[in-house]
Amino acid sequence: MFRERATPPRATGAAVLALLLLAGAQLQAQPQVFPGDPLPGLTPVEFEEFMLGLDDFLEVEDAEEGLGPAYNNTSCAGCHNVPAIGGVAPMTTTRAGIRAPDGTYRDIEPDRGSLFQIFSIPTHGCQSVIPPEANVIAKRVPIPLFGAGLVEAIPDAVLERLADPGDLDRDGVSGRAPIVLDLATGEPRVGRFGWKSQRATLLDFGADAYRNEMGITNDLFPAELTFRLTARQLELCDATPDPEDFAEPSTGRRGIDNFESFMRLLAPPPRAPITPLVAAGRRVFDAIGCAACHVPVLATGPSSNPLFDRRPVPLFSDLLLHDVGTGDGIGQAGAEPGEIRTPPLWGLRFRRPLLHDGSAATAMEAVGRHANEAVLAREGFERLSPADRDALGAFLDSL
Ligand code: HEC
Ligand code: HEC
Repeated sequence: MFRERATPPRATGAAVLALLLLAGAQLQAQPQVFPGDPLPGLTPVEFEEFMLGLDDFLEVEDAEEGLGPAYNNTSCAGCHNVPAIGGVAPMTTTRAGIRAPDGTYRDIEPDRGSLFQIFSIPTHGCQSVIPPEANVIAKRVPIPLFGAGLVEAIPDAVLERLADPGDLDRDGVSGRAPIVLDLATGEPRVGRFGWKSQRATLLDFGADAYRNEMGITNDLFPAELTFRLTARQLELCDATPDPEDFAEPSTGRRGIDNFESFMRLLAPPPRAPITPLVAAGRRVFDAIGCAACHVPVLATGPSSNPLFDRRPVPLFSDLLLHDVGTGDGIGQAGAEPGEIRTPPLWGLRFRRPLLHDGSAATAMEAVGRHANEAVLAREGFERLSPADRDALGAFLDSL
């Protein structure tokens, strides 16, 4: 992250004044937040961190800056840009591994993980080739980052209280809060980010993505992710010394710090208007048991920063791992092959395709695929009158 940043075009003083007045008037009239906006109420320092982070999130990397040897895209924004920077993209990444005859899962090589990249630095044979012994292949779509800082600020204890791994209340819905390592502190934490709740913090996830999706090594992931490459191949494909991401002298911040700030300060996705039909749909959602996993609101813990201090987080998720019969067969961090994290439903109307592998085109199709722990809810959904089904649809489209 040592490239010069482009200076934004300068507006004239009068134009700036007019814009500020307009912005002020709009703020008073209608405090509306759009996808990709920062949380309302940032301090000037936070706003600067957000913009610095946005800049790095957009930055297209090349081999000189450490891209590769194998990679899936050249910037974070390349896979996180719909409907605004920080969102998703209609693409999937590919994972592969081995399921033993007894049903247990293992990665093809220990410590490498299951991700296989689609590009490599050309002509030196550094592709990450899925070997013939792989017998599980899985696809994953990106997850939007709007409101991620609020999700991060939900205390572990809140998620642990929601968990019911043995289904002690016998409602058919269990739910596990997997423990993962916080790489920056070395402390055990409840995982909450990723389809497998594989990471606990935005710093860790960003650092993981920087190395795994883009091949840029950093303090938390200092070694290249190679697959059966010789030292000579690696030398040709990746001449930049590790870690490739380091603190920029002018700011003292690493790329991974900037990603973290950007994601932490992104506002949650805005709700569409709550019409009477939407309100009726919400009652249906609660009545048939959707809210058992898609918990409407959680809350952040106490914080010295008012942006995160005991704030409601209307995400429609318990952030726990469940087996709803759609599992991708990949064991990862604390997640079993059959488990997937309940996806937050906020911002649902901005994202397609749905389900972890992008295999559902509509929300109704995604709901129709719920089984196992969600079988009662799905049966309730199937029994709905046409009017209740329309209301549920309107509610989901309002998220
Ligand atoms: C090649 C596409 C791609 C690129 C490039 C990419 N991501 Fe992602 N991102 C994904 C996918 C796919 C997921 C879901 C991964 C999973 O759980 O398996 C994801 C998930 C995430 C999540 C988890 C969000 C949540 O709420 O659970 C974070 C955080 C994230 N990405 C940050 C980043 C950052 C920061 C960068 C740049 C360093 C980046 N991503 C680059 C595809 C990408
Ligand atoms: C037992 C927990 C559980 C219950 C109950 C449940 N869900 Fe889900 N839901 C999940 C999980 C886990 C996924 C992710 C599955 C996947 O991606 O493979 C999911 C995915 C979804 C998705 C797709 C979201 C996306 O981002 O791809 C929608 C929409 C959805 N659920 C709505 C509902 C509705 C409506 C109900 C009630 C009829 C319901 N769910 C009941 C756990 C649950």
